[in-house]
Amino acid sequence: MNALAATSRNFRQAARLLGLDSKLEKSLLIPFREIKVECTIPKDDGTLASFIGFRVQHDNARGPMKGGIRYHPEVEPDEVNALAQLMTWKTAVAAVPYGGAKGGIGCSPSELSRSELERLTRVFTQKIHDLIGTHTDVPAPDMGTNSQTMAWILDEYSKFHGHSPAVVTGKPIDLGGSLGRDAATGRGVMYATEALLAEHGKSIAGSTFVIQGFGNVGSWAAQLIHDKGGKIIALGDVTGSIRNKSGIDIPALMKHRNEGGDLKDFHGAEVMDSSELLVHECDVLMPCALGGVLNRENAPHVKAKFVVEAANHPTDPEADEIFAKNGVTVLPDIYANSGGVIVSYFEWVQNIQGFMWEEEKVNMELHKYMNNAFHHIKAMCKSQECNLRMGAFSLGVNRVARATLLRGWEA
Ligand SMILES: NC(=O)c1ccc[n+]([C@@H]2O[C@H](COP(=O)([O-])OP(=O)(O)OC[C@H]3O[C@@H](n4cnc5c(N)ncnc54)[C@H](O)[C@@H]3O)[C@@H](O)[C@H]2O)c1
Repeated sequence: MNALAATSRNFRQAARLLGLDSKLEKSLLIPFREIKVECTIPKDDGTLASFIGFRVQHDNARGPMKGGIRYHPEVEPDEVNALAQLMTWKTAVAAVPYGGAKGGIGCSPSELSRSELERLTRVFTQKIHDLIGTHTDVPAPDMGTNSQTMAWILDEYSKFHGHSPAVVTGKPIDLGGSLGRDAATGRGVMYATEALLAEHGKSIAGSTFVIQGFGNVGSWAAQLIHDKGGKIIALGDVTGSIRNKSGIDIPALMKHRNEGGDLKDFHGAEVMDSSELLVHECDVLMPCALGGVLNRENAPHVKAKFVVEAANHPTDPEADEIFAKNGVTVLPDIYANSGGVIVSYFEWVQNIQGFMWEEEKVNMELHKYMNNAFHHIKAMCKSQECNLRMGAFSLGVNRVARATLLRGWEA
């Protein structure tokens, strides 16, 4: 099942649990606006290259639409649509005053030079500048894009609309980015895990973890879990996987990686077969890389008691059903990885206030938002007698439905 089908299925289940009117259900599912633009740039060698850029603005009942822009060869309308919809429910679960959007350009960023990427970003911004804005749609980095991409969007957008730092989040600190934004998703994953374990009378200290992905989310989650006394006993990325049953020394691994080393060359652990990573013995499994990695083939063999979905869509619906039967508790992506969008909200607030917060304040507020969301999801699970994924979807869908009904449809 692709990402759009899975997201729409979860939405429909939540709508049914909540007893939503079928017309309201239909209106919430259809995107507000789908944008598709042609972006042609001169390459460094003087030849022309054409790309297609997308922006799907899913819903704005609760506030400006919010979501990442990804540069990836497989960017296609269905997936962008699913991710935009997911952002609508995610911002509602987090209780930040945003709707949902997502965008991207079908390209291979690693095959483009820095100046080609800059030209492409500027052309894309020229094509969509009238449709995004501080109070309409606020992009952020995603796969294949970063704070530099946001700086180019900010600069190009500001040529048309004047200096507008709040038009994008995930900016460099020098251009109005927030302290703590880089670590925010991984830190949110750590807070979410802490809340989940506490609910089961456990804590990060004394629990064992397996992490797939050692990029932004995985490496921050690993560092913060290690700081809290959690034992990361296996870890993998696209280059391979390693394990150490006494716990991997994460600061030493970070140093090794920052010096250009691959995981498999790290002396503090032994190399293991990557196909065994997700089914390795542990208390908590954290997929922090790709979608669809937990599926009907490997789900029956997963030994973790908890799966924390730091990546988007790591669990196929078939795997979800197997986990439910086997008593594996899944903390869903729309909550577990919402730390990034929560701190993006803080960045936007700081830009609008024209006042920069200290990092301690950012982290403290993030903790508060993650804890509140967890307790609201648990309350929904109790009232609807459902699992955490349906609790999170029902919470998000209910908030968006309420806002939509309050606004009304009179033309
Ligand atoms: N960065 C954020 O703020 C954020 C926010 C919400 C959700 N997410 C989601 O979290 C996930 C990771 O995002 P990120 O920003 O850390 O990306 P990233 O590009 O920084 O890191 C991705 C990691 O996944 C690893 N990886 C790629 N293919 C793999 C494979 N086949 N097997 C094992 N590992 C593999 C890479 O080696 C890398 O370590 C994505 O699903 C993303 O959508 C990210």
